[in-house]
Amino acid sequence: MFGTVAIVGATGAVGRIILQLLEERGFEAGTFRLLASARSAGQKVQFRGQELVIEELTKDCFAGVDLVIASTPDDTAAEYLPAAVAAGCRVIDESGYWRMKPEVALVVPEINPQAALNAKGIIASPNCSTTQMVLALKPLHDAARVKRVIVTTYQATSGAGLQGTEDLMQGSRAALEGRDYQYSAFAHPIAFNAIPQIGGFREDGYTSEELKMVYETRKILGDETIQVCPTCVRIPVSNCHSEVINVETERPLTPAEARELFESTPGITVVDDPASGTYPMPAGCSGSDDVFIGRIRRDISRENCLTFWCVSDNLRKGAATNAVQIAELLAEHAE
Ligand code: A2P
Repeated sequence: MFGTVAIVGATGAVGRIILQLLEERGFEAGTFRLLASARSAGQKVQFRGQELVIEELTKDCFAGVDLVIASTPDDTAAEYLPAAVAAGCRVIDESGYWRMKPEVALVVPEINPQAALNAKGIIASPNCSTTQMVLALKPLHDAARVKRVIVTTYQATSGAGLQGTEDLMQGSRAALEGRDYQYSAFAHPIAFNAIPQIGGFREDGYTSEELKMVYETRKILGDETIQVCPTCVRIPVSNCHSEVINVETERPLTPAEARELFESTPGITVVDDPASGTYPMPAGCSGSDDVFIGRIRRDISRENCLTFWCVSDNLRKGAATNAVQIAELLAEHAE
């Protein structure tokens, strides 16, 4: 059990769910401290029947803290988390800043728990669209070796933080009423639209979000040979990311074999009955920690390829749940 646990970014879209999960899952610690920006300092939050006051995040706020779970923008994680490591804290970070640094462990506990246990410094939690995809790829990779993945995402607005959800709600209302709305989380209107850009473009035409799916997948699965071709799209759904995943394996896998592999993997739920029009949809997956898979079928255009549809709550397994599972793993192994 950890003595003092600090939740950094406790007021954010993911931070709030981290608090909810720590409560729901009965995560034990001596003391909990909640940190956010100066804008939120002094706000009161109910946590486990207690009233906690949000403190301002500073570089010297980590004295006496044993474990930090952070979910903030990248620049905040870059600036403050080294101070937490220097103060001797175990640090779990949700941001994108540290994930691909060679000295940082990038962990999905169902896949590479040992990387978290061996980590000396920051332990990063992957990007939400990567996490659900690698959980689906893992059993296929173990059984038949994944060579190549073509993935298209349909990402919810909650992935852009609380302001993303606010933009969807306010923007939709304004569009229905024929009014203008000034979007702040998105560069284009998200209401009644689809935006094929998440993050900035690189020279090769891919976005930063897409490249996360390429490099994080290889790091988590420990296989630099896996080829990934991603397209990430923001859609007007408030929560849960959906993905179409096309996988080419070295050894052939039938859809029935893939289904069995998915069904025997903890954390994956297969919802797949085309005859009755049954498949996972974002509206039914919100609030769950599982990754839902349906529409499993052969790729009729190519040998050794399967295609399926995958939906998961991006704020839970895609972010908060994964971070809390890493915290639970560390707590189990803490001296
Ligand atoms: P605050 O609410 O005080 O701005 P979201 O992803 O929903 O936008 O949440 C981001 C989280 O990161 C919030 O808790 C936010 O706190 C926190 N945060 C953002 N910028 C900073 C900063 N400069 N210092 C500390 N916390 C920050």
